[in-house]
Amino acid sequence: MAYRIAVLVSGTGSLLQALLDAQSAGELQAQVAVVGSDTATAQGLARAERAGVPTFVHSYRTGDDRAAWDEALTALVAAHDVDLVVLAGFMKLVGPAFLARFGGRTINTHPALLPSFPGMHGPRDALAHGVKITGTTVFEVDAGVDTGRILAQHAVPVLAGDTVDTLHERIKVAERALLVHTVNDLASLHPRAAQGDS
Ligand code: GRF
Repeated sequence: MAYRIAVLVSGTGSLLQALLDAQSAGELQAQVAVVGSDTATAQGLARAERAGVPTFVHSYRTGDDRAAWDEALTALVAAHDVDLVVLAGFMKLVGPAFLARFGGRTINTHPALLPSFPGMHGPRDALAHGVKITGTTVFEVDAGVDTGRILAQHAVPVLAGDTVDTLHERIKVAERALLVHTVNDLASLHPRAAQGDS
């Protein structure tokens, strides 16, 4: 039975697209079972719909009960009986209920070589610091911000004349390949864990 993954997105969804493309090329040892977003207009949702993947939107508005939001997100993902959750440009932190259910099987990607430049602005901060090498990190999500166990990294050079956008785009090329590679590694390392876990 296929190793099932949920992918959570907030924006463009090019990382999601890399997973979908690898799947349709027969190069992903996993099935994208569901795509969720906190943003109804996320382009990633349209990408999932075009690929025939079920989607859900779970918005958070300022003032909403964060714990209830987290519990509902957990239930939405759990309903799809997934082995792995991939945060692919998902701009919300998952909370204690989510980690109680999916901790150890939730991964995120970051556009810098952690532990350097965590947070929302990895490419901008790397550029401002003047490093000549940065890159991308795939890590296991824990309760901190970009603090979890590092699973894979790929270095990317900073070039003369780079802007935040050109640097981020070069990192994202590496990030897409690294994410596909890491999902394949996890799928082959771990037997299907979530059977009947809905
Ligand atoms: C990636 O660089 C990711 O690491 C960061 O946001 C970007 C998402 O890109 N958190 P996309 O929405 O998949 O195109």
